[in-house]
Amino acid sequence: MKVVVNHQIHLSEFQQTDKVTLIEHLNDRDIYERTLRIPFPYAEKDAADWFVRVAKITEEQGRPCHFAIRGADDAVIGGCGFHDFQSHRAEVGYWLAKPYWGRGIMTAVVKRICQHAFDEFGLLKIVAHVYTLNPASARVLEKCGFVQEGLLRSQYLKDGKLIDAWLFALFE
Ligand SMILES: CC(C)(COP(=O)(O)OP(=O)(O)OC[C@H]1O[C@@H](n2cnc3c(N)ncnc32)[C@H](O)[C@@H]1OP(=O)(O)O)[C@@H](O)C(=O)NCCC(=O)NCCS
Repeated sequence: MKVVVNHQIHLSEFQQTDKVTLIEHLNDRDIYERTLRIPFPYAEKDAADWFVRVAKITEEQGRPCHFAIRGADDAVIGGCGFHDFQSHRAEVGYWLAKPYWGRGIMTAVVKRICQHAFDEFGLLKIVAHVYTLNPASARVLEKCGFVQEGLLRSQYLKDGKLIDAWLFALFE
């Protein structure tokens, strides 16, 4: 399945052949520091675990919920998807390889993927937790129409440090 974002970017399911590129892109401390579930260093075992997790969610939900973000040449440049499914709500997550930051790519992707989730998954609400140390991600969500629902103080404990997070939400 292919979800077209614009003439340069599209989304499709991860393939085993994406593993090498995935490991290359995700072995990045700057991505690790801004995300909740991506390990660092990012090894082959982490990619293998990720593929198992994606297969499980796909089976549970009966449809693909996680997508590789691909450029015109089909190579993976990032990832996005949904987890924590409740009856009418799920959480969106995303990352982009560092060479592609700051070009408006993730704003276009998040807009498209949320529309896809409202249309295809029947969701009524999409949420996102963003570390307050990650204003670029908060800005992406705001540009996609998300509103801030609150500040969650000391919500996460990572590497011995407490992290505050904003909770964002988008309604259909
Ligand atoms: C956060 C991330 C997804 C953004 O992707 P992107 O394609 O660079 O985002 P966009 O270019 O669409 O938009 C970024 C916006 O943030 C702004 N921005 C960037 N750095 C910023 C900063 N330090 N403070 C405030 N705003 C900032 C940009 O100016 C831009 O807003 P503008 O269009 O109003 O100028 C990307 O940096 C990334 O993958 N980070 C690591 C993983 C991650 O953080 N995932 C999300 C976890 S919640």
